[in-house]
Amino acid sequence: MLIDTYGRVATDLRVSLTDRCNLRCTYCMPEEGLQWLAKPDLLSDDEIVRLIRIAVTELGVTEVRFTGGEPLLRPGLVGIVERCAELDPRPRMSLTTNGIGLERTARALRDAGLDRVNVSLDTLRPEVFQAITRRKRHGDVLRGLDAAHTAGLTPVKVNAVLMPGLNDDEAPELLAWALEKGYELRFIEQMPLDAQHGWKRDGMITAGDILASLRTCFTLTPEGEDERGSAPAERWLVDGGPATVGVIASVTRPFCRACDRTRLTADGQVRTCLFAREESDLRGALRSGAPDEEIARLWRLAMWGKKAGSGLDDPSFLQPDRPMSAIGG
Ligand code: 5AD
Ligand code: SF4
Repeated sequence: MLIDTYGRVATDLRVSLTDRCNLRCTYCMPEEGLQWLAKPDLLSDDEIVRLIRIAVTELGVTEVRFTGGEPLLRPGLVGIVERCAELDPRPRMSLTTNGIGLERTARALRDAGLDRVNVSLDTLRPEVFQAITRRKRHGDVLRGLDAAHTAGLTPVKVNAVLMPGLNDDEAPELLAWALEKGYELRFIEQMPLDAQHGWKRDGMITAGDILASLRTCFTLTPEGEDERGSAPAERWLVDGGPATVGVIASVTRPFCRACDRTRLTADGQVRTCLFAREESDLRGALRSGAPDEEIARLWRLAMWGKKAGSGLDDPSFLQPDRPMSAIGG
């Protein structure tokens, strides 16, 4: 098991497959992009599958989420999913994507064994999409969502970040749209993980703001702690249910006590938390011929050092050096 000193057990593994992305969301990356990881530093498909196998067969991981950057940019994605689907026990597998290219790959991903997708979409207005992501790809995302739904990668979840002055008035519209389409909408509070270090607490739209805005058009009733478990999203029944809306309030209502996540970067580092400033190298061990037991030991040791919380409220909080796009959502 991957247990830490606070008794939390990590069963949910997030694997970043690339730090590259075809969008430039302002809350994530600068216009010019970033210095991408060099090819030799990236784990190969075989190395990734081996680490996932160790996680699933030796360390109690039951849930694997592929992330990026943009994971659809990884040429071997479908093959990786296919091989992970053959593991025993078979992990549940999902993908966090910006949706560009999903139109083409949804079917193949489903056939390979992917269970579900989370698609990031912050707005229904093409010009606002362009202002947030700096790219004209709104239509691609909408078509990607449709394709995922049709392919049965359900429930399709949609992640939205609200930015002041851009889309902070759009929460009710997004929810009405998601209800109509049958997608499960979740709002994510903007976190200090942008490469430009531009995040300011007083500028962000909070969970409180989002709920107040939604309540101008919908009746929301809390779903309750029992259903939540270790899920980062707090959920509300919309107009009595069964549809729900979620809010991931990492900043104003942190959920670290129930965290069940462990993360692997595209260059083979274990991270215990999105906000961690330390990482533990597994790639070195992999490439120096370490056996599975040794890799499992290093992974357990890394998780044993997991901190109680994100440290966001600590006056000495320092953003991690690695930006969100290189950590994975
Ligand atoms: N704050 C909150 N969410 C973010 N995402 C990316 N950067 C940030 C940030 N700074 C979101 C993306 C995607 C998920 C992986 O995380 O929009 O939905
Ligand atoms: Fe790409 Fe996601 Fe970052 Fe947007 S938030 S630039 S889609 S990695």
